[in-house]
Amino acid sequence: TGLTAYDPGYANIASCRSDITFIDGEQGILRYRGIPIEQFEQTPNFVEVAWLLIFGHLPNAEEYAAFSDDLTANADLDEAMKHHFEGFPRSAPPMAILSAMINALSCFYPELFEINDAGHIRTAAAALISKIRTIAAYAYRRSNGLPYIYPNPNLRYVPNFLHMLFSKPYSQYVCSQTVRDALNLLLLLHADHEQNCSTATVRMVGSGQANLFTACAAGVCALWGPLHGGANVAVLEMLEKIHNGHISPQEYVRLAKDKDSKVRLMGFGHRVYKNFDPRAKMLARSAEKLLAELGRQDPLLDIARQLEEIALEDPYFIERKLYPNVDFYSGIIMRAIGIPTNMFTVIFAIGRLPGWIAHWWEQAQTPGNKIARPRQLYTGCELRDYLPMDQRT
Ligand code: CMC
Repeated sequence: TGLTAYDPGYANIASCRSDITFIDGEQGILRYRGIPIEQFEQTPNFVEVAWLLIFGHLPNAEEYAAFSDDLTANADLDEAMKHHFEGFPRSAPPMAILSAMINALSCFYPELFEINDAGHIRTAAAALISKIRTIAAYAYRRSNGLPYIYPNPNLRYVPNFLHMLFSKPYSQYVCSQTVRDALNLLLLLHADHEQNCSTATVRMVGSGQANLFTACAAGVCALWGPLHGGANVAVLEMLEKIHNGHISPQEYVRLAKDKDSKVRLMGFGHRVYKNFDPRAKMLARSAEKLLAELGRQDPLLDIARQLEEIALEDPYFIERKLYPNVDFYSGIIMRAIGIPTNMFTVIFAIGRLPGWIAHWWEQAQTPGNKIARPRQLYTGCELRDYLPMDQRT
């Protein structure tokens, strides 16, 4: 076959060179453009991180103001897009709507495709980062039979999103600083993670020179599965099952170790981290802080802590180096903010979008970039002849 390597799941192969994100899985280190993610915890700002990932440096005051203005100017959706939301059944999964509507942007804003230089990518990135939020909010409103709320140009990125999700036509949702910080942190901690399944998908689709919007719509599809972004939903379902008394934490962990059960401890394990996922640590801290500041308790947080304690002392998890990942605590934060479980992976997608854009753009700028085209080891039949119907058994 002329092939030199077989690597299922691409666990041992680098598919590209990238300047965007550094991970040391053994030490539990994650850096965006060289900056440790812990340094974004004090004053979390998702928009700033989006800029950093896409353009390689922290925005100065002028760049930040211009990018914020671009986000505001691009928040609306073409009115005709509303009919598309109406066409979906109320029960449609928001991830399906998100992917379809991001792809539909290609029809409504074709001028944004012509990305030839930094100016064009800036406009396209702002449009996409701003509009994904409006699409997500409209998908939520549609599934709950609520009227759509237009973006408010006077609000910043996160409060504007929560306004579109939760305001009523006659009363505006007011976002506290605590909630704003928690959601900014959650989004920015999801913003990039090198060649994960969805980002690798965006690169693969982009490698055939498909446009940015279509490549990101494919990223949403890749993110959906429970082994990837869908894990945040699966974690919440797992915690609820335990909370409702269907199973004890000990019994759940026992099942997760039993290969025949097909059960996994959701929110645990990672292809790259063989140590604590630093994002999980930060999100656990953020969940505690948010609940304390809101003056609330969530029994699911206690269950998560209990599961973590049991698993981290269990030889099965120790030997395999399985630790909590980003999805383990994120659902508790979203729940506290009032975001329903079926929107969790959509929030992950909003967070991951700057990373997808950064990778699509990095690849598009790489001279001599090749179309992604893995090979295979053929395991099918030897040469055989076609049989006419009357000779087949
Ligand atoms: N619960 C129980 N056993 C596990 C788990 C888990 N959560 N994760 C891995 N294992 C076992 C697995 O059965 C295997 O055991 P053995 O060596 O005896 O066959 C060993 O650990 C290695 O697992 P793997 O499936 O070969 O590892 P992978 O790198 O292919 O998969 C993973 C990584 C994240 C898909 C996996 O750990 C998993 O399914 N975790 C649960 C789902 C989850 O939380 N996904 C979110 C990932 S992080 C954020 C994101 O990407 O969205």
